Amino acid sequence: MRVCRRATFNAAHRLFRKDWSDEKNNAVFGKCNNPNFHGHNYVLEVWIEGAIDPATGYVIDLKIVKDLIKNEITDRFDHKNLNLDCKEFLNLNPTAENIAVVCWDLLRSKLDTKYELSIKLWETENNLVEYNG
Ligand code: NI
Repeated sequence: MRVCRRATFNAAHRLFRKDWSDEKNNAVFGKCNNPNFHGHNYVLEVWIEGAIDPATGYVIDLKIVKDLIKNEITDRFDHKNLNLDCKEFLNLNPTAENIAVVCWDLLRSKLDTKYELSIKLWETENNLVEYNG
């Protein structure tokens, strides 16, 4: 059985590599390399797989997942500039792929090992990534 808690956060970023020239960054990342940053309304889906606890009828109390996402993800990244404000991206290009890996690692470290964890991160209405470790 898989259950999901959804959360949203807003953040700014710029896609570029410090070790690449302006020309190469522009060629690879285009508008996403705007030096003055741009923002997204991210949607995070946290999917947890496990057995239904016969005592509660839950796989996991989604209130626990809600609090976990708040403490580990939204308090950390909401209304932040990912490149400038967040140490996780000091040397990591904040693509949706890399943000998803960072979010997964943060959540996995706090989640009971009896659960499988998968996350989906929507960067726009049309673009999303999925990661399960
Ligand atoms: Ni972007």
